[in-house]
Amino acid sequence: MALYKLFRPFAFALEAEAAHRATIGALKLMPRRRLPTFPASLASEVAGLRFPSPVGVAAGFDKDGEVPDAMLSLGFGFVEVGTLTPRPQQGNPRPRLFRLAEDEAVINRMGFNNGGQASALARLARRRQGIVGVNIGANKDSVDRIADYAVGVAAMAPVADYLTVNISSPNTPGLRNLQAGGELVELLAAVAEARPSGGPPVFLKVAPDLEAGDHGRIVRAAIDARIDALIVANTTLSRPPLRSRFAGQAGGLSGAPLKPLAQDALRAFRSATGGALPLIAAGGIGSVDDAWDRIVAGASLVQLYSALVYHGPGLARRIADGLAARLAERGLRNIADAVGSG
Ligand SMILES: Cc1cc2nc3c(=O)[nH]c(=O)nc-3n(C[C@H](O)[C@H](O)[C@H](O)COP(=O)(O)O)c2cc1C
Repeated sequence: MALYKLFRPFAFALEAEAAHRATIGALKLMPRRRLPTFPASLASEVAGLRFPSPVGVAAGFDKDGEVPDAMLSLGFGFVEVGTLTPRPQQGNPRPRLFRLAEDEAVINRMGFNNGGQASALARLARRRQGIVGVNIGANKDSVDRIADYAVGVAAMAPVADYLTVNISSPNTPGLRNLQAGGELVELLAAVAEARPSGGPPVFLKVAPDLEAGDHGRIVRAAIDARIDALIVANTTLSRPPLRSRFAGQAGGLSGAPLKPLAQDALRAFRSATGGALPLIAAGGIGSVDDAWDRIVAGASLVQLYSALVYHGPGLARRIADGLAARLAERGLRNIADAVGSG
């Protein structure tokens, strides 16, 4: 925290996307270090993978897979890179990223800016340790979006500890339609077909903006297609009351104001799965309490992004240590014993 307190005023003096680029640049310069160890009570197995800590970095922070090792060495139990599309693309015109400091929130309409799967593949092939998931999406100008996901699964499987099928970003027009009934079944069938045998588990990332009947339908489609876990949730298009002058910007809202919505979505998915499908929580997680609340509501793992902007990467370690302390207070041996216990 001390180091980030020094860095933050410089980062906040820059336009938000420039600050993010500077952060990635600084992380790239970090000397390679051995991975940290975590209290044994935090290690758990989810979708066949052994996670040393349940606190991970959400997609979008390291879109091109430039700094997964640095993030792991700073105290994250896993890192999700991406979203990566088959072909490189620029994303939306800038400015497209806004810090809502008064609300501890972020609005982004990046639009899947990324260097494409081939260049990330080469970078990720060189790394060896830790759990790194690869989040995949469709190109904006693609004529067959479902085919883009099949391409992504086949291309990125060799370097991914898990894959995330992201159909919930609000900044690619029409992408969220893939969450609808028939389209979802067709998409997940194509993904299942593209999975190499013995390949990594596949997660599905959903939006927080769903209607009452959607949760059960998505869960049934996911289970039928052998999806291994759900990530709940992406950014929201809704606008709870906000104070910042950027509140009216178009895009997906994340951070503290997303918390109640993401927590409700998690509960809805937990009741729809009955525990049959692992859940990974994201959305407004910024403290030990936030992470604990999601875990007892049914999340096996948690991810964060926006809180990093306000509290720095040391937050991951502080949350992990806080979770271990909470397990000890309650006499629980392992984090898995707390999942869904609330
Ligand atoms: C600037 C920014 C870019 C993001 N890009 C992606 C992305 O490319 N793919 C994705 O699945 N989610 C993306 N997300 C969503 C996050 O992964 C996460 O689901 C969401 O921000 C909620 O978590 P948070 O409140 O901790 O930020 C992005 C979020 C932000 C703030």
